[in-house]
Amino acid sequence: MHNRSLIACDKPEEKALPMNVQGRPTRPETAAASAGATFTGNRGLNMEEALIFESGRFDATGVDIDVPPPFESKLGPHARRNAVDLPGLTEPEAIRHYVRLSRNNYSIDAGLYPLGSCTMKHNPRLNEKMARLPGFADVHPLQPVSTAQGALEVIEALSNALLTMTGMDAIAMSPKAGAHGELCGMMAIKAAIEARGEGETRRVVLVPDSAHGTNPATAALIGYSVRSVPAGKDGIVTVEAMRSALAPDVAAIMLTNPNTCGLFERDIVGIADAVHEAGAYFYCDGANFNAIVGKTRPGDLGVDAMHINLHKTFSTPHGGGGPGAGPVVLSSRLAAYAPVPFVMREGGVLRLVEHADGRESFGRMCAFHGQMGMFVRALAFILSHGADGLKQASEDAVLSANYIRASLNDAMSAPFGDRPCMHEALFDDRWLKDTGLTTLDFAKAMIDEGYHPMTVYFPLIVHGAMLIEPTESESKASLDLFIMTMRDLAIAAKAGEGDRFQAAPVHAPRRRLDETRAARQPVLRWTKPDPV
Ligand SMILES: Cc1ncc(COP(=O)(O)O)c(C=O)c1O
Repeated sequence: MHNRSLIACDKPEEKALPMNVQGRPTRPETAAASAGATFTGNRGLNMEEALIFESGRFDATGVDIDVPPPFESKLGPHARRNAVDLPGLTEPEAIRHYVRLSRNNYSIDAGLYPLGSCTMKHNPRLNEKMARLPGFADVHPLQPVSTAQGALEVIEALSNALLTMTGMDAIAMSPKAGAHGELCGMMAIKAAIEARGEGETRRVVLVPDSAHGTNPATAALIGYSVRSVPAGKDGIVTVEAMRSALAPDVAAIMLTNPNTCGLFERDIVGIADAVHEAGAYFYCDGANFNAIVGKTRPGDLGVDAMHINLHKTFSTPHGGGGPGAGPVVLSSRLAAYAPVPFVMREGGVLRLVEHADGRESFGRMCAFHGQMGMFVRALAFILSHGADGLKQASEDAVLSANYIRASLNDAMSAPFGDRPCMHEALFDDRWLKDTGLTTLDFAKAMIDEGYHPMTVYFPLIVHGAMLIEPTESESKASLDLFIMTMRDLAIAAKAGEGDRFQAAPVHAPRRRLDETRAARQPVLRWTKPDPV
């Protein structure tokens, strides 16, 4: 096998008509006819890119693979008869395809990413360097534990750091994301309830109406009924509201703190006491831990289980679906029910406890031991910041959010008045009332300004919600530019420049999509067009 990328362009394809990059014939006069149109379909560096299946062909490949000697297939009638039809591309074509696609992507490396409830913070390159060390990058989950002591030490050190920051007693490292962590924590709670012989009677989980959708989904997934608890007019849940919802059939509550409105749950200790008095457990959604690291410990607030999104608080990359990591910390009340595997130190040697073996553990969440690459990155973030740096990161995240909130308060409307927030600033759409515009129009106009939109229409309890989370990563100059842009858009909206919003985005590779149709009739599979 040898690389033939250097000779790949020797024979340019001959075609009767010029083809645009989508592989479709295009005529020069077509491009010239409409102002602004181009022959290629590209607009400067903004390049059209066909699907790889459309641009690939069968006479090209990045490598030459020797034709295998004749052999007798043992697959019999199961052997494939037709070609797989995978697209063939030379190495430069394949690289260009993915580079062009990547340039259509918004990322934290491209600019401020204000997506609320997501903590899109900078991913330090030091973390990346550590994760790429061969001893970590090449470690295999099935290699003998004696040869993976360094990897286990990372898991142990990260576990200890997370337990210290949260003030909790035990930890499960294997969950692969926030929602998976919720499942883990709730399964530990379910196991504890069943061990008390109350599995048949405690069938309800209380969830505030401001919660992230994963909370009620998790409870429902493991068979609980979900009862909603209303947040108060000021966006937080009161002890009274919780007490009136608590009953002998309640297994647990799932409460997010700081909550999805960007507010600290002021009554959290009273709520925890009420929950425990009622014989239930307190699951805290820790997705917003970035606001309180080094300031307060969930264990001191009465929390029994909480997941930590390493891909948010501890700067491991996320977006586009993964990879995440959602370790779960547990109180002493739940520690015994933690899943396997877990790391244990015995006589100076680390080992993995892989089987429950008579323990009360609820079992196993996933095949292996968690997201090793994410563990290395998160530990690098923690060690490079130190206790004081982590605390400062939280303080800066809260400061940045409040700077945005205070700077936009007169231009937009805040649902809970002019009061300090935690890590994210929340606005509603009352200020758009007389403009004929919606939150969605405003968000789309942000794309033309080169920003990823903030989170919109969440939390559900706030009409036309706009949730902005700047994180600690942004400089004051970056925040100021964002604020000025938002103010400019707000002034334009109020001045009746509706077109700027309703037509938006006009500068993006694609115009506004029919989101309802995309959700109702998703096209998830490419079908090969009939030959012309
Ligand atoms: C409050 C809250 N809870 C849970 C989750 C779920 O986390 P993940 O996306 O890692 O599954 C999120 C994610 O956005 C969240 O914001």
